[in-house]
Amino acid sequence: MSNPSLLILAGDGIGPEVMAQVSRIIDWYGDKRGMAFDVSEDLVGGAAYDKHGTPLHDDTMAKAQEVDAVLLGAVGGPKYDDLDFSVKPERGLLRLRKEMDLFANLRPAQCFGALADFSSLKREVVEGLDLMIVRELTSGSYFGEPRGIFTENNERVGINTQRYTESEIERVARAAFDLAMKRNRKLCSMEKANVMESGVLWREVVTEVSADYPEVELSHMYADNGAMQLVRAPKQFDVIVTDNLFGDILSDCAAMLTGSLGMLPSASLGAPMANGRPKALYEPVHGSAPDIAGQGKANPCACILSFAMALRYSFDTGAEADRLERAVEKVLADGVRTADLMQKEGGTPVSTTEMGDAVIAALDASL
Ligand code: NAI
Ligand code: MG
Repeated sequence: MSNPSLLILAGDGIGPEVMAQVSRIIDWYGDKRGMAFDVSEDLVGGAAYDKHGTPLHDDTMAKAQEVDAVLLGAVGGPKYDDLDFSVKPERGLLRLRKEMDLFANLRPAQCFGALADFSSLKREVVEGLDLMIVRELTSGSYFGEPRGIFTENNERVGINTQRYTESEIERVARAAFDLAMKRNRKLCSMEKANVMESGVLWREVVTEVSADYPEVELSHMYADNGAMQLVRAPKQFDVIVTDNLFGDILSDCAAMLTGSLGMLPSASLGAPMANGRPKALYEPVHGSAPDIAGQGKANPCACILSFAMALRYSFDTGAEADRLERAVEKVLADGVRTADLMQKEGGTPVSTTEMGDAVIAALDASL
């Protein structure tokens, strides 16, 4: 059997800097764990625009459809701000998500003990937090028709439509239940079934799907209460599944419970391919950070933890994903900090490469 395949799209700004550390970790898995990957690299975003006049070349799109997983750095930057909307760097990323039909966006919020004081909440509320939000990514209010700004009775009216089909709800619900089975078998579904018909259908379909997952404890919560509970007592949750709009807000809210943008990974998954693996794109939540790009200051952990998610969700090697996450945790516990993780008291921050060195040393120590 051939090796699993990875397409690396490092992108712009700090994207290539943080991805360079991930490449070293991929090599480490090949050398030390006998897990060789077939890795190819290509351009996305501004880098692709500079070379091809488009933020995602058709050949790159075709490659992304074939590989087992895509790893993306970040796209965008001030250099491209005045470009026409149709060729903006972000369009490259949107095209990938759309054409790969990545309907389930996985956003973990994990609070490493060493960073608990970074949260705006009390240490005891967030320490040990480890939850996952599954956000529906390809439908709902951001896509539903009719949409637009119209004139009615001599005034303007802005319209967006929250629309979900049964099959759209079912597939993201299955993704969330499958995930719950790999974690702690606890799932909370959030909608507004009290005021929205789309929420009533959401609740019905999620409940129907739950019949296939008798081991998962399912609960339902109105999304506004969910927002309150996330900041009041986030550790009550394990997996949360919700729609595109609520998921956008709730996942950003949950992410900030844990501190720095430089620590947050994500995965976007689609339907299973012929080999049983889901279509998959892994990327840090942060952008291209033009303010620190090219200075060796970027924290590579979000990108490294995104690769850990690839190990877990594309390559079914949860033990190796654990190994990598524990390596990052150990490095933080040892006090290794990039500049974004420094408290005001000071100390000397490490560079992007030194953070990579430290994670690799911790991986070596785990053998
Ligand atoms: P950003 O996430 O790039 O940066 C926000 C702040 O966080 C900056 O101060 C930055 O230095 C810091 N930061 C972000 N990642 C960091 C890391 N790994 N280590 C240390 N510090 C880090 O968001 P911003 O500034 O709003 O956007 C900059 C560019 O990135 C824009 O062109 C935007 O469109 C694009 N962008 C791209 C995304 C993507 O590729 N998925 C997501 C968000 C923004
Ligand atoms: Mg958002």
